[in-house]
Amino acid sequence: MDRARVFKSILWTISGLGAAALATRFLIGLGSIANMNDAVPWGIWKGFNIFPGIALAGGGFVMTAIIYIMGREEYHKYAKVSVLLAFLGYITAATALVTELGLPWFVWHPIIYWQHHSPLFEVSWCVMLYLTVLFLEFVPVPLEETSRFTKVRKFLTKYKIVLVFLGIMISTLHQSSLGSMWLITPEKLHPLWYTQLLPILFLLSAIAIGPIMLILAILVISRIYRRKTDNQTLARLGVLSSFMVLTYGLVRLIDIGANGKFAMIFDGSWQSAIFIVEMSLMVIIPLILMGIRKLRNSSSSLWVASLSAVIGLGLDRANIAGVMLSVDGPRYTPTIFEVLVSLSIISAAILVFLFCIERFKIWDSKWEDPREDKKSRPDFDRSSEVWLGTPRLAGRTVYTLIFVISLAVGFAIIPGKRIYSGGIQKVASQKSLGGDTLFIDGNRDNYGVNFDHKAHVIRDSSCVLCHHMNQPNDKQSGCYTCHLDMYQRTDAFKHDWHANPTGANISCTECHAVDQERLASTAKACDQCHKDLIPPGATITVDKYMAPSYTDAMHFLCVDCHKQKAVELADKSNLALCATCHTSEHTDHFVDGVTDKYKHPYFNHVVLPENRPTVEGH
Ligand code: HEC
Ligand code: HEC
Ligand code: HEC
Ligand code: HEC
Ligand code: HEC
Ligand code: HEC
Repeated sequence: MDRARVFKSILWTISGLGAAALATRFLIGLGSIANMNDAVPWGIWKGFNIFPGIALAGGGFVMTAIIYIMGREEYHKYAKVSVLLAFLGYITAATALVTELGLPWFVWHPIIYWQHHSPLFEVSWCVMLYLTVLFLEFVPVPLEETSRFTKVRKFLTKYKIVLVFLGIMISTLHQSSLGSMWLITPEKLHPLWYTQLLPILFLLSAIAIGPIMLILAILVISRIYRRKTDNQTLARLGVLSSFMVLTYGLVRLIDIGANGKFAMIFDGSWQSAIFIVEMSLMVIIPLILMGIRKLRNSSSSLWVASLSAVIGLGLDRANIAGVMLSVDGPRYTPTIFEVLVSLSIISAAILVFLFCIERFKIWDSKWEDPREDKKSRPDFDRSSEVWLGTPRLAGRTVYTLIFVISLAVGFAIIPGKRIYSGGIQKVASQKSLGGDTLFIDGNRDNYGVNFDHKAHVIRDSSCVLCHHMNQPNDKQSGCYTCHLDMYQRTDAFKHDWHANPTGANISCTECHAVDQERLASTAKACDQCHKDLIPPGATITVDKYMAPSYTDAMHFLCVDCHKQKAVELADKSNLALCATCHTSEHTDHFVDGVTDKYKHPYFNHVVLPENRPTVEGH
């Protein structure tokens, strides 16, 4: 088997599996394949496709700057490939973005509805503009293949330098504004990653690692197509980048030191361990391998240095996006389907990359795989009139077959339950009431409770009994919007946010009368501003506005009434047993419906209704 075919087959398999998940996501909705929720809305697609993708595509603008502006001719042969790589990097990020937007069909909104206070606004404009620039920079290459559009091609080639300038400008703008975005979420980042310098660090790391990504890509494709690499030029590029890597590393460490967080690096927590791993991969290993003259020209150190730097950068962006380090807050683990979508977008991009390398003159010649497709028909010997050898399947046939089969497998492995989307999944098969049964599963770990909403509503026609509070401007908030954490109490009021200029921006005296002690009882009542916060018929008696955990909220509500009814209704004495609600496939975790022996680790967290804490103010 030749390398190219094996490699492409793997990519086609992943693409097929992912395409099934992707199609499900667009046909049925995000909840059908993803574990993201309102508490953790940015998942693996942001952490592994969008942020690292854009940073790694930084090679495009850095290389064009080096070649066309600094005039370093020796890298000229890498110009086209670096633009192609950047273009595909951005396409990857854009695809992932559209996939993970809740309402993808509104993706054009930033073009019409301007919100110039938002870093995301800047990012989306820059990404759109830069994609266009990259497209215009690259399109002369495929146009070389046809005799048409020569005027367009000549025009674009002539004014290339304008595009190069535009590209550099837009890139620098938005690489840094991607970093700025995190400045507004200090509570989501671990202190080792959070700093006011994030915009600068984002830009520096993109400049540093972009070209290294190019080196890695060249090494990989040279391997596949069995071409020789020009190690010396690559090593020189590596040295150039390592100056930037060094700058990045120093800025980051000095910033950590200046903010007095240095001790955190060695505090032995797992976050500090990840930090050390990240810095070693991204900074230390590449610096050693590129810094020592004896090492740098060998293929293997180029391989190790570039792989390590690229993985390090990926880890860094994923950490910032909160995939690896969701600090103490609600947890999120991506589903296998999210991972597949993530990988398949990358695989598809690599396939397009390989396609371009084979079909267009990215290098001095097209890089055809010598054995690819040539032998799809056996030789015919005219003298003896026999076919020699057995026919080999054409690449196209093999890949189509692989893709179709993995697409089918992809669809087959998506569990039916997942299709009923949302944090609350509707369960189809439930007595006569059909679709009115909710599958309550706040943390979407598939340990949940089938709750016959309709039957309960019919019995206790008051909605307020359970829906005791709403989010502002909302008529019927899901419980998870305030009972945000599965096991911990969370703040449902956000006092400081109300007073903060970046929040609701209300002055203290609007809620606290002057010369009065500042307490809940003296503060302006919530419903004087929020008419919908309290549903009609409900009263609010809270003091600290700390909402109990999701599990507790459910238990306090459901179990209290069930206990009461178990006494009242003669034939329903089992209503309060755990197994009444926790049925289905998880019953075995409950030993005879008794409450004190639980095998499942989750049970360590549970405050059972018996130990119900008294909330101040009640
Ligand atoms: C009246 C119904 C009801 C009864 C009785 C009940 N629970 Fe629950 N319990 C729920 C609901 C609803 C949830 C939220 C489910 C979810 O979001 O995953 C829950 C959540 C849990 C969770 C967290 C599940 C997770 O996914 O982490 C645990 C553990 C738990 N219950 C244990 C118990 C135990 C132990 C008992 C018996 C003492 C019990 N429950 C009795 C309704 C009930
Ligand atoms: C016995 C308690 C209870 C009563 C009574 C009740 N609900 Fe609910 N309702 C729930 C729970 C629990 C959920 C879902 C849990 C979550 O959001 O995490 C829910 C969810 C909902 C949802 C979202 C469902 C979805 O498919 O997304 C709506 C809408 C709703 N309730 C409306 C009502 C209305 C209207 C009434 C009164 C006619 C009512 N509920 C009465 C407990 C109740
Ligand atoms: C707008 C925010 C909000 C929403 C939506 C909300 N809750 Fe609450 N909930 C709170 C707050 C705040 C408290 C704490 C109140 C207190 O201290 O008594 C609370 C307390 C509770 C309690 C415990 C009360 C007690 O006596 O200790 C239960 C039970 C409860 N919620 C159930 C639910 C259920 C079920 C839903 C969805 C049907 C829901 N909540 C929706 C904010 C909310
Ligand atoms: C939206 C209304 C609102 C605004 C604006 C507001 N407060 Fe409060 N404040 C409250 C409520 C309600 C409480 C009681 C609940 C709590 O402690 O969270 C409170 C509690 C307090 C407390 C007592 C805290 C405690 O733990 O007992 C202090 C002190 C206070 N506020 C100061 C301020 C100051 C200073 C500002 C302006 C920067 C401010 N508040 C703005 C509503 C408000
Ligand atoms: C002086 C008026 C005022 C008072 C009093 C007030 N709020 Fe607000 N609140 C606002 C404004 C303004 C906003 C932002 C606009 C909006 O979402 O409606 C807001 C937003 C919120 C939000 C949404 C936060 C978010 O992240 O989007 C919640 C939850 C909330 N308030 C809860 C409360 C609770 C609970 C109380 C009572 C302790 C309260 N508010 C008292 C004015 C007030
Ligand atoms: C106001 C009281 C009340 C509340 C609150 C309540 N239930 Fe119930 N529930 C009942 C009663 C009464 C029944 C028994 C109905 C019957 O079978 O006659 C019942 C039945 C059930 C059943 C079916 C049990 C069986 O043996 O058939 C489940 C499951 C259930 N409830 C879950 C929940 C969950 C989950 C919640 C919280 C979200 C909840 N209930 C909240 C009163 C309540």
